[in-house]
Amino acid sequence: MEQLFINFGAEIITLHILSAVIWVGGMIAVRFAVHQVIHSITPENVRVEKALNVMKNLFFLVLPFIFILVVTGIIMIYGLGHKGDMGVHIKEGLWTLMFLNFAVMFFRRKKAEQLSKENLEEAKKQMMIISKFMLPANIIFGITAIYMGGVLRGF
Ligand code: HEM
Repeated sequence: MEQLFINFGAEIITLHILSAVIWVGGMIAVRFAVHQVIHSITPENVRVEKALNVMKNLFFLVLPFIFILVVTGIIMIYGLGHKGDMGVHIKEGLWTLMFLNFAVMFFRRKKAEQLSKENLEEAKKQMMIISKFMLPANIIFGITAIYMGGVLRGF
C-alpha cells in the first residue's frame, strides 16, 4: 500500500477528491438545481417519470465513485500514516452511513418505478422520501466527510 502511494500518490488523491466531488456535488446539483425544474413539469405522470429518470442517472453515475472513494481512502490511510486515527474511523463510519443510505435510495427508486405504472400516488410518496430526507441526509454526511479530510490533513 505504501509503495502504491509512493508511486501514484497524486493520482490516488485526485481520484479520492474527484469521487467526493462527483458524489456530493451530483447530489447537490440534483437536489437544488434539477429538483425545482422537475416540479414545474406537467402532467403529473410525466413529472414522476422524469424524476425517476434523473434519480436513476444520478445513482448510476455515482456508483463507481462510491467504491473508488473507499479504495483510495484505504490506500491513503497507509500512504499518509493515518492508521488508527480517530478521523479515519469517523470517515469510515460516514462512508458506511452514506453507502447504506444510497443502497436504500437505490432500491426505493426502483420500487417507485414499478409502482408508477399502477399507483402514481404511492410512487410519488416514495420519491418524496428520497428527495426530502434521504438525499439531504447524504449531502450533510458527505460535506462532513469532506471536512474530515481537511481535519485529517492536520487543520
Ligand atoms: C472509507 C472511507 C474513507 C476513508 C478511509 C478516507 C480516508 C481519507 C484519508 C486518509 C485522507 C487524507 C488526509 C490527509 O491528507 O492526510 C482523506 C482525504 C479526503 N477525503 Fe476521504 N476517506 C473516506 C471517505 C471519504 C468520503 C465519503 C468523502 C466525501 C464524500 C471524502 C472526501 C475527502 C476529501 C475531500 C479529502 C481531502 C484530501 C486532502 O486534501 O487531503 N472521503 N480521506
